[in-house]
Amino acid sequence: MTEYNFIIQNTSSIVSPGLVIFRDVMNANLSEMLREAGDVTRLRPHCKTHKMSAVTKIQLELGITKHKCATFAEAEMLAEAGVKDILLGYNLVGPNIQRAVEFVRRYKDVQFIATADHEAPVRELSSVMSAAGQSIQLLLDLDSGQHRTGIAPGEVASQLYQLFHDLPGIQPGGIHLYDGQNHQTNLEERRLAVMACWELASGFRDQLESQGLSVPRIVAGGTGSFPVYASISDRALELSPGTNTFFDNNYGKMFPDLRYTPAARILTRVISRPTEDTITVDLGYKACASDPDVKKRVIFPDLPHAEPILQNEEHLVLRLDNADDFAPGDELLAVPGHICPTSALHRSAYVIENEQVTESWEVSGRDRWLTI
Ligand SMILES: Cc1ncc(COP(=O)(O)O)c(C=O)c1O
Repeated sequence: MTEYNFIIQNTSSIVSPGLVIFRDVMNANLSEMLREAGDVTRLRPHCKTHKMSAVTKIQLELGITKHKCATFAEAEMLAEAGVKDILLGYNLVGPNIQRAVEFVRRYKDVQFIATADHEAPVRELSSVMSAAGQSIQLLLDLDSGQHRTGIAPGEVASQLYQLFHDLPGIQPGGIHLYDGQNHQTNLEERRLAVMACWELASGFRDQLESQGLSVPRIVAGGTGSFPVYASISDRALELSPGTNTFFDNNYGKMFPDLRYTPAARILTRVISRPTEDTITVDLGYKACASDPDVKKRVIFPDLPHAEPILQNEEHLVLRLDNADDFAPGDELLAVPGHICPTSALHRSAYVIENEQVTESWEVSGRDRWLTI
């Protein structure tokens, strides 16, 4: 695996806690994603990890034309960056139904797709879309065992998919499956579990097609299941990892077979040395995702034995043997445990190239809404 130095020469311009993106590492992650996919046209990466127009444009330059998102702000960010094929992998309800109409009206040259797993919002979507003279493709969201959203294959699922054909303003787009439950560290165990999900989805696709229904695509998976889905040869399969563009420490530990390196880190500064064996840095949970346990929220590669003992909104207290070596103002680089919600906590990121801060990338898709 390539060794990177993660040095930043001109840190004085970085307001801490600052999200920093090491451009060479991100480029290597993107190359690895392309290598694993084998064919760029199979990719539909999820932008939830970065939410940045600049990163989307880099992916477009690499030939990645299909993209995935979870919110309308992300969808708008993608469309403004020039993406023409956008999957909003989220079930539309409430005001999002009208927002979908506004989105397709505004971005006429964008193929816009959403997911659905229940008849009621689909009927509502159909009536507002058709009244506006617009249409949208829907993917049937399959529950492969995560039990977060989706519907199990069967009679109700097939009736719902039939509705996608029958209702005005709706077109059948295929099947969506996110198997976030497949977190097996052992690759062979993961392969078995992911293949079971694939059998479920492709078997259901075959059944729908035998009923004369069109299933143009199956969008499947995240970063952990990506190597397994990528090994499947199927004309309809689209691969939708997200985290691997930046990658993070918790996925690195969970999936040791993956060849990605955390590209997004946080520059933090020591603000206090409250006791003999502790230092406090300006890295609270308003700057890094707090969904992992406090011990897994961030790690410090230069302080492998530092033990996080308290985190508040703007403070992180670390216990370490050599606390004496630190003084307020000293800088450290932290690797986030979970990068996707971490990037959402920053308005922009500092881009590091050749050890220098070269530009700033806005995290525009982090908001709940932009203009639609
Ligand atoms: C629906 C959906 N698709 C794709 C992804 C990307 O998965 P990962 O973060 O494992 O790359 C996610 C992540 O949460 C997701 O929720």
